[in-house]
Amino acid sequence: MSEEDIHRSELRWGAIAAFAVGIMIAVIVVSSFAMAIHPPSHVEAIDPTTLNTNVEFAECNLGTRVNPDGSVTVRIIATQFEFLPRCIPVPKGQQVTFRVTSPDVIHGFFIAGSNANTMVVPGYVAQLRTVFSTAGNYLMPCHEFCGLGHSEMWALVKVLEGAQWKTDASGKASCEIPR
Ligand code: CUA
Repeated sequence: MSEEDIHRSELRWGAIAAFAVGIMIAVIVVSSFAMAIHPPSHVEAIDPTTLNTNVEFAECNLGTRVNPDGSVTVRIIATQFEFLPRCIPVPKGQQVTFRVTSPDVIHGFFIAGSNANTMVVPGYVAQLRTVFSTAGNYLMPCHEFCGLGHSEMWALVKVLEGAQWKTDASGKASCEIPR
């Protein structure tokens, strides 16, 4: 192989590498700007050490709430090794905003059969919105290894319709896990 052949081969491989990098950049640009695909975690900091005195994530404010404007917000604390609350009622066919945070370690937030899937990182509020178009029970397991009790950490999302979906006078909805 002459020196010129080697030089040509190097140029060819250089062009192939540049082409591959170009494709990757194009995929990132198109998916993030044109298709709006982003990491689902919404960047909002919260002090995990004072979560017990936080107004929004106070025990009485956890769970499902219909806001004065009619929107539905569900606030959840993911902690070793349970979700608070464990039973989460939501209305069918209406947008639901989930706000989840952790006082201890990283947990996973995933509602099987829906597109809700994010990590719950201590120090941040993970927020996502979704609409459930089918009524029924959806299992919500923690899907991020968080310690010895990880496999026991799950909750139930109950998608309710019609008269089954109801709130108390303060707009709170709650449910019980069937035994
Ligand atoms: Cu929490 Cu795994």
